Amino acid sequence: MSQTALLVELEPVVAENLDRHLSLAKEWFPHEYVPWSDGRTFDGLLGGEPWSPEDSQIPDVARTALIVNLLTEDNLPSYHREIATLFGRDGAWGTWVHRWTAEEGRHGIAIRDYLTVTRAVDPVALERARMVHMSNGYANQHDDEVLHSLAYVSFQELATRISHRNTGRATGDPLCERLLARVAADENLHMMFYRNLLGAAFELAPSQAMRAVADVVADFQMPGVGIEGFARKSVAIAMAGIYDLRQHRDEVLAPVLRQWDIWNVTGLDADGEAARDQIAAQMTQLDTTASRFEARREERRTRGR
Ligand SMILES: [Fe+2]
Ligand SMILES: [Fe+2]
Repeated sequence: MSQTALLVELEPVVAENLDRHLSLAKEWFPHEYVPWSDGRTFDGLLGGEPWSPEDSQIPDVARTALIVNLLTEDNLPSYHREIATLFGRDGAWGTWVHRWTAEEGRHGIAIRDYLTVTRAVDPVALERARMVHMSNGYANQHDDEVLHSLAYVSFQELATRISHRNTGRATGDPLCERLLARVAADENLHMMFYRNLLGAAFELAPSQAMRAVADVVADFQMPGVGIEGFARKSVAIAMAGIYDLRQHRDEVLAPVLRQWDIWNVTGLDADGEAARDQIAAQMTQLDTTASRFEARREERRTRGR
């Protein structure tokens, strides 16, 4: 099916899932999650106190994860451009694109307010990193293909859910954890929306959907990949068990693949079958690589003790 035909055929599913989303999404207010009275004026224009690492008890790796998560949320204008260009701004697709953007905008607002008021991270370094990151923009490898994009965001929303949730735990700060759990709940609803859409695509065009999933599983990268020092930061995040390959395979890819019931999809053509075999091989390989990483991490922790 052509990209246009897919958009047209999926539109009723978008409308249905939009209603479902709106009935499930709970209104919430970023300002309620931020302990404003803990805040102090910073140095610079207003002559307050400069930031210092001792201002917050949050562990270093949790700060790193908070920065990665926030910069990822910050790049929303690029994500909006991607989906507005591909899905369009009309009808149910357009309503979703704008609603989703509004919800995601809340994440960056809430996390930034929290980090600034609690002095959890260096606000100057954070702002400079935001400028670099957003100036680079973001583009998905498959941003002109509907099904690839749906597969990517299904995984990516779940990945960010898990990353926010585990980052919250790693902070050891119950208020921060509560905020990130709230954000994670939004990401979960986003994941369900996209997952249901691709689920419907598996009925419309099973081989095309399987190909899209195989390609995306093979080259998946987190949306924050363009952040300065991302490789180093993501290793630290993985070493701390906030987001690692095991979680990516077992808690992100596997449950979504299971929901699509990909092993029992029928009516595949030769490429659809080949794509499914590729997914199976990829999952096996990820399992091996994840186990190797876990063993190395365990070794390092034992040595550390
Ligand atoms: Fe978000
Ligand atoms: Fe999201």
